[in-house]
Amino acid sequence: MAFTLLPAIGRDFIGRKSEVDRLVSLILKPTDLLYEEKKGIALLGKRNVGKTSVLKKIINLVEKEGIFCLYVSLDDLTDNSQQNFVKRVVILILNTYKSKLGFEFNVEDLFNTPMGMLDSLLKNLKRGLSEELIINLKLLLTFDREKKVDMNSVFIAMFSLFDMLAKETKTKLLLVIDEFCGLRNLKDGVDSNLLFEKFKSAVLKYENTLLLVADSNKPACEELLLRQGSIFEGFFHVEDISSFSKEHIQKTLEKNSGKKIPENALELILDFTGGIPFYVQFIGRMLGRHGFVSANSFDQKIVSEVIQDFLEQEANILFREQMNRLSNKEKLILVCMIEQDLNTPSSISKEINYSQTNVRRFLSIMEEKELVVNTKRGVFEIQDNVFKLWVKNLINKEVKN
Ligand SMILES: Nc1ncnc2c1ncn2[C@@H]1O[C@H](COP(=O)(O)OP(=O)(O)OP(=O)(O)O)[C@@H](O)[C@H]1O
Ligand SMILES: [Mg+2]
Repeated sequence: MAFTLLPAIGRDFIGRKSEVDRLVSLILKPTDLLYEEKKGIALLGKRNVGKTSVLKKIINLVEKEGIFCLYVSLDDLTDNSQQNFVKRVVILILNTYKSKLGFEFNVEDLFNTPMGMLDSLLKNLKRGLSEELIINLKLLLTFDREKKVDMNSVFIAMFSLFDMLAKETKTKLLLVIDEFCGLRNLKDGVDSNLLFEKFKSAVLKYENTLLLVADSNKPACEELLLRQGSIFEGFFHVEDISSFSKEHIQKTLEKNSGKKIPENALELILDFTGGIPFYVQFIGRMLGRHGFVSANSFDQKIVSEVIQDFLEQEANILFREQMNRLSNKEKLILVCMIEQDLNTPSSISKEINYSQTNVRRFLSIMEEKELVVNTKRGVFEIQDNVFKLWVKNLINKEVKN
């Protein structure tokens, strides 16, 4: 059994062939489309749909073609400060280029190396590196020793370092930023709009570096890259990563378990998961524990039991915190949407006797929290079907008690 809740890599990666092929060929042979009109690629899709898995798959394939890749995620930062972020990225990029630069030391130690020694280390790097690159590097390795840091110039140095390294080592670099919009949540320093502006103007000058980003936060993406007048309007070639089809779900389950899945059981899983691979993997793991592997016959009944069990137990752990982060009014709206099957501010406002403007305002906040999604003008849907079913299950239990 190889069901996993982590990004799917290697043999665990199922499907997405056409998306991956298209993106890889776009990266390997950037067409005029990418170089003259669009400056980067953006993978957009719901939470847990498999964006990171696609990024990792692409990295794996293009690295084999000699492209240097830098993967940075805004998701797993323990320290959300801009300083910490820059330090992490500098460590990653220097590790990526370590052999090309002739670095023989531990990159992390450079941040604590005494100034004089650092100077001579940098001077002794591979010959032919420009003075400008060395100055940038020095700034990036020493900025946090200063009492007052000008994060603006630190970011400018970092943004230009990527392409300088690529150019001066005669390599191509794929700069991958996962949860891209999360850059705006970094604390203590430059205002986020200014940060994005600076980044954009740096990327526009890139010659050997291609930008690939991913994000799932729809309102953030709208505001930053999709909406007319947004900073990155028209900047990215956008690729939507969609939910799994029935065939993909079948393949994931059958490949990882070695068993055939009957059609009715498959339908049930499709219905429940909404094609979100994360839940397919989760249910797969649970089916394993329910004797699915040893049983010869595997039917809809076992799947129903597993789904119910999931809603009663695992889902509590997954969703309880998300629920607790909602205000009372947001909870009220959520329950109303689910219990009464409502999806417009006007119908919700009538039901809970609250002004339409306020309902709309709360829905926007809930959208920002990636709980609801604005599908059509004035229509909001609960984004995650499993979360919706979990809340439904809670409501039913409350009614029974
Ligand atoms: N192509 C795939 N084949 C099999 N499983 C997949 C695939 N893509 C994603 N998954 C599974 O779905 C889950 C979520 O994957 P991943 O982390 O790549 O999604 P994501 O969209 O980046 O999520 P998030 O929104 O949390 O960043 C994981 O359990 C992963 O194993
Ligand atoms: Mg991800």
